[in-house]
Amino acid sequence: MLKGKKILLGITGSIAAYKSAVLIRLLVKEGAHVKVVMTESATQFATALSLSVLSKNPVNIDFASDSNWNNHVKLGEWADVFLIAPATANSLSKMAYGICDNLFIAVYLSSRCPVIIAPAMDLDMYKHPTTVANLAKLSSYGDVVIPAEKGELASGLEGEGRMAEPESLVTFLNDHFKTKNKKTNTRRTKNKILGKKALITAGPTYEAIDPVRFIGNHASGRMGFVLAEEMARRGAEVTLVTGPTNLQIDNPGVKRVDVVTAEDMYKKCVSVVKSMDLIIMSAAVADFTPVDVASQKVKKNGQHMMVKLKPTKDILKELGTKKSKGQFVVGFALETENEIKNAKAKIKKKNLDLIVLNSLRDKGAGFKTDTNRVTIIDRGNKMNEYELKSKELVAVDIANEINERIQYKRLKLSK
Ligand code: CTP
Repeated sequence: MLKGKKILLGITGSIAAYKSAVLIRLLVKEGAHVKVVMTESATQFATALSLSVLSKNPVNIDFASDSNWNNHVKLGEWADVFLIAPATANSLSKMAYGICDNLFIAVYLSSRCPVIIAPAMDLDMYKHPTTVANLAKLSSYGDVVIPAEKGELASGLEGEGRMAEPESLVTFLNDHFKTKNKKTNTRRTKNKILGKKALITAGPTYEAIDPVRFIGNHASGRMGFVLAEEMARRGAEVTLVTGPTNLQIDNPGVKRVDVVTAEDMYKKCVSVVKSMDLIIMSAAVADFTPVDVASQKVKKNGQHMMVKLKPTKDILKELGTKKSKGQFVVGFALETENEIKNAKAKIKKKNLDLIVLNSLRDKGAGFKTDTNRVTIIDRGNKMNEYELKSKELVAVDIANEINERIQYKRLKLSK
């Protein structure tokens, strides 16, 4: 997919810049044309000479070199995509506020193509409200953020802040060109999620048999949580209704509501749905619940035990079929056979705008994995098959698919 594509790679001064050489090699191997613009401090971590050899192009650092004027407008115009990897806290803040004190920022400000940003920094810097706000600001302009990964950091600390691996970035770019409309994949994207209200469900539900036992499932809630983070980063006001999970979320844009049973989840969703613009149901809701819940722990007596089950309410179907004008509804489908056929049938049955399908047959997809492989189908049967990637990146793909299909709402500016 990258054959003939023009990738402008922006490199800023992080230790992760050492990965740029591998990234350029991978891009060139895929047939992409690569040009590099880097900051002065990035040259301390990766030499311009090696990057120039690998990209087969001169590397751009200053406005002028060897009495040549490096035209920032031309570089921005040339690119099909501007990938900024690694993006430091310092450069992110300059991008967010237009502090144009080097060639890299001038290129960023004048580029018209989609911008994809892969941050890299220490965990406390990444979590600092300033960085979170800067990333949100850049997302609000339509830039796409590739969330930093968890792992060992150059400081010796462990946590979130590692730049996504070059292989993941290449997979993401491949899907970018494969799945997006040809007309829009080389133009700066408008963020239509900004200011929208989103209802997201996550996790399993637990259906009690007695005070000790319940019927549950293996869902971790991870997909819904990373989706909530992604939608909040893009400026949505998120209500996350989650079943039992150990996951934490610390994001001012996400209001978390904990529930236990399918009935609790149903009631909560129904009570808030009216004000929502986006409804994304990723929870693995129990389809059945015991008819009677024993008030005391059921004792074993050597005999078989029968638990009579009744169906739960299908929250997605209820919200989909009763959706109001302008609401956009996304469902998930986890299938083990006839995946596409079943997913398309679910779009009709539940009146969905989009369905995210994952198959338990795919290695690395589904429950309790950090990765997922999805196919996204819309109500017009347009279908995009994505590569296996981290759930954070799947959330970026899902948000992009939603963004392409929803209406832009002009925000009222506060006086
Ligand atoms: N869902 C829901 N409420 C339920 C069951 C499912 O909101 N009681 C939602 C899930 O969150 C998911 C979608 O419906 O977005 C698909 O769920 P799934 O269990 O795959 O499909 P079902 O409709 O239950 O159909 P089947 O069991 O036949 O696959």
